[in-house]
Amino acid sequence: MSQKISQDEMKKAAAIEALAFVKNNSIVGVGTGSTVNHFIDALVDIKYKIAGAVSSSQESTKRLKAHGIEVFDLNNIDTLDVYVDGADEVTKHLHMIKGGGAALTREKIVAAVAKEFICIADESKQVEVLGNFPLPVEVIPMARSYVARELVKLGGDPEYRQGVVTDNGNVILDVHNLEITDPIALEQSINAIVGVVTNGLFAHRGANTLIIGSPDGTKVITLP
Ligand code: A5P
Repeated sequence: MSQKISQDEMKKAAAIEALAFVKNNSIVGVGTGSTVNHFIDALVDIKYKIAGAVSSSQESTKRLKAHGIEVFDLNNIDTLDVYVDGADEVTKHLHMIKGGGAALTREKIVAAVAKEFICIADESKQVEVLGNFPLPVEVIPMARSYVARELVKLGGDPEYRQGVVTDNGNVILDVHNLEITDPIALEQSINAIVGVVTNGLFAHRGANTLIIGSPDGTKVITLP
């Protein structure tokens, strides 16, 4: 009789599989979210083999430190071998929507420094076309209404994420009803709007490897 595996167990399985990508004595780039929380917890088992971590959010920093893992300032690091993070949606091209947890800007910065982006997710995150999950856009607070009007011109339906302030002191607009057929172009167009800090499309720099937790076990997909 096959046992039902929960979404959280799929996330955990993907997170544990990612440990195999962490090199000895390295500093690991760490994302944010419930899947990454499993990764941080799993890192404890190899914490004496790594030099420490660079974190993409206050939330992940807190969890890493609570586990006794040293957290380095990105400004003191030239390069990272791997960055491990979750996604809200991911395609077969390993383009992603991220930012459901509002940490998109720091995530994109740490990812930019890493040689390899390892995306960990449960199978519900796999999509044919990005855009069913509302696209998060981090915005300087005084530009919120202007940016919202510009996003409408791009065909989206922006919604102010009430009560959320990012780690950088900004606000989030979640853009509904975008059908994202060219994620690289849209990522650039949205980032070009004055007042946008960044958006949650990770297509220009997508993932290199996707680890998917599924009821049939974990699947590892690496782009050539
Ligand atoms: C955080 O801002 C996000 O980019 C997360 O990586 C993304 O929302 C995935 O989160 P979960 O692992 O909680 O599904």
